[in-house]
Amino acid sequence: MAKALAWCVLLFVPLARALPSSKGEMRVYEKRDSAPRNFAASGAMPADHVINLRLGLAQSNFPGLEKALYEVSTPGRLQYGQHLSKAEVEEFIRPSSETISAVNDWLASHGLTATPLSPAGDWLAVNVTVDQANSILDAQYTNFTHVDTGRQAIRTLSYSLPASLDGHVTFMHPTTAFPRSTVRHDVLYPRSFNTGADQSATNTSSCASAITPACLQAMYNIPSTPATQPTNQLAVTGFVEQYANEADLEMFLETYRPDLPASTNFTVQTINGGQNPQSQTQAGSEADLDVQYTLGVASGVPTVFISVGTAVDEVDGFMDLANTLAAAENPPYVVTTSYGYGENDFPFSMATALCSAYAQLGARGISVLFASGDEGVCGDQGTSCSNFGATFPSSCPYVTAVGATMGASPNRALRRVEPYVAGLGTQYTGKYNATGRAFPDVASAGEQIQIVYRGELAATAGTSASSPIFASVVALLNDELVAAGKAPLGFLNPWLYANPGAFNDITTGNNPGCFTNGFSAKEGWDPVTGLGTPNYTKLRTAAGL
Ligand SMILES: *[C@@H]1O[C@H](CO)[C@@H](O)[C@H](O)[C@H]1NC(C)=O
Ligand SMILES: *[C@@H]1O[C@H](CO)[C@@H](O)[C@H](O)[C@H]1NC(C)=O
Ligand SMILES: *[C@@H]1O[C@H](CO)[C@@H](O)[C@H](O)[C@H]1NC(C)=O
Ligand SMILES: *[C@@H]1O[C@H](CO)[C@@H](O)[C@H](O)[C@H]1NC(C)=O
Ligand SMILES: *[C@@H]1O[C@H](CO)[C@@H](O)[C@H](O)[C@H]1NC(C)=O
Ligand SMILES: *[C@@H]1O[C@H](CO)[C@@H](O)[C@H](O)[C@H]1NC(C)=O
Repeated sequence: MAKALAWCVLLFVPLARALPSSKGEMRVYEKRDSAPRNFAASGAMPADHVINLRLGLAQSNFPGLEKALYEVSTPGRLQYGQHLSKAEVEEFIRPSSETISAVNDWLASHGLTATPLSPAGDWLAVNVTVDQANSILDAQYTNFTHVDTGRQAIRTLSYSLPASLDGHVTFMHPTTAFPRSTVRHDVLYPRSFNTGADQSATNTSSCASAITPACLQAMYNIPSTPATQPTNQLAVTGFVEQYANEADLEMFLETYRPDLPASTNFTVQTINGGQNPQSQTQAGSEADLDVQYTLGVASGVPTVFISVGTAVDEVDGFMDLANTLAAAENPPYVVTTSYGYGENDFPFSMATALCSAYAQLGARGISVLFASGDEGVCGDQGTSCSNFGATFPSSCPYVTAVGATMGASPNRALRRVEPYVAGLGTQYTGKYNATGRAFPDVASAGEQIQIVYRGELAATAGTSASSPIFASVVALLNDELVAAGKAPLGFLNPWLYANPGAFNDITTGNNPGCFTNGFSAKEGWDPVTGLGTPNYTKLRTAAGL
């Protein structure tokens, strides 16, 4: 059986744009009738409260960047593998001088100065008091509280911009978007797993009920020989105060990878006040899973845990992480993230901006992977959904979305997205959007994953496991490519879809949700497991090794 997430694209909160407003040249830019369900207004904000406002500026040539991305990422094209430099990417993205002066003039007229947040200057930050924000944006910033979590969200239901900024500003945050807190995509079983014979490092006879690195090596032909290339770095991201515990990793490696040095460890990078404290009670199941199934599978690949703190909310964290990677001279070649949002929680403007940042990373030669989510076709909407929901950022077309399987019953076939949609006929018509980006792209094991958590053997499940596992496969391929003097794989999707035969097609299972059985896995690409699970041997050949 297989379980994962469905497709559908960008079902966003309806926005009213460019309506003439009562106040002269100001136009309502984004507006919503009410806060989402579960957010209650708890009063006006104090006038002197400071808001860290982010602005997205129109990029000079995103279509050019997108074209270049596909040129360097599609096998057979002349430029394949010739990834762009940081400067070349910024050339496409840097806002025009008209845009920069329109925005700076407007801010200056209110006595404000912005600071660039992204290397190309397409995202800016400016601190304003609630009083200033209400006045310059025709807004009414209010203190909203998320009733389930008690978290505070300072938002306005509407804001306006002067006509002089038409076409120059793409989004502002925080304004009308109310994303719920980031969801991590793992489920930790509430019991410790027994130690015993089936925990043996190399015994693969129990892989049907307990997945270990040895099982993955056996199922996917993943090599155990250590990687050799120091420039080939793999990044594991951590959000929502999930901390990766070094002692748990050490015990995991001693148990499941005794062939690796016990000192095998990750480095730590922090963003927005992130940290990685090491007391046992602070170990996070998601972060532990993520480092254990990268360091434990991508043997010898230098791995960095990037801990992202919370500035305003995690949306800022996602933005700042993308911009930090874009600003790096020598970024990691692979980045795996097991956190995400319901796509409906993201306004189109902000989703587009983040997605553009992932396209920039892909153009630089970075593979960006996201877990596709664990709620079947519900997509983080909660179980009472009527239409299927996508998860974000996994639904962004420039990232690779990884779904999960339970057990393993490989059965090969070579077809792709369109036949699946045709095969659905009228089933689920209206519940999903058949014209958008389909996902997930690929899958790997995501059930009964054996980890060490707070000093004990435990088991976990979810697409959260699948993304680091697939990222490890990519990192090992990159190690071989770099050793052979070749470019890393970069943005994976065109290469993946050009090589469907390199996957173990998963043909049974489904992803229930919204009072339906969800989509069913079948021969070829399906919205449950994408192309299937990896076969390292065949991917190696597909990579030209
Ligand atoms: C805004 O204020 C925060 C402190 O709340 C500070 O860390 C940040 O640097 C300021 N940003 C700008 C653009 O001034
Ligand atoms: C926002 O509302 C919550 C709940 O009523 C309250 O705890 C919090 O102090 C308020 N924040 C501000 C800045 O007024
Ligand atoms: C492998 O594990 C199974 C049960 O989990 C056990 O019966 C078998 O003896 C083990 N094989 C080896 C070679 O350890
Ligand atoms: C892992 O690396 C950190 C430094 O990044 C070091 O402080 C720690 O002792 C190392 N842990 C182990 C178990 O080697
Ligand atoms: C489906 O997605 C496309 C973009 O891919 C969008 O233009 C269209 O409006 C969407 N349709 C619905 C019904 O949401
Ligand atoms: C993976 O590919 C190799 C080489 O073609 C093949 O020998 C092996 O059986 C495949 N593994 C699976 C699980 O299909």
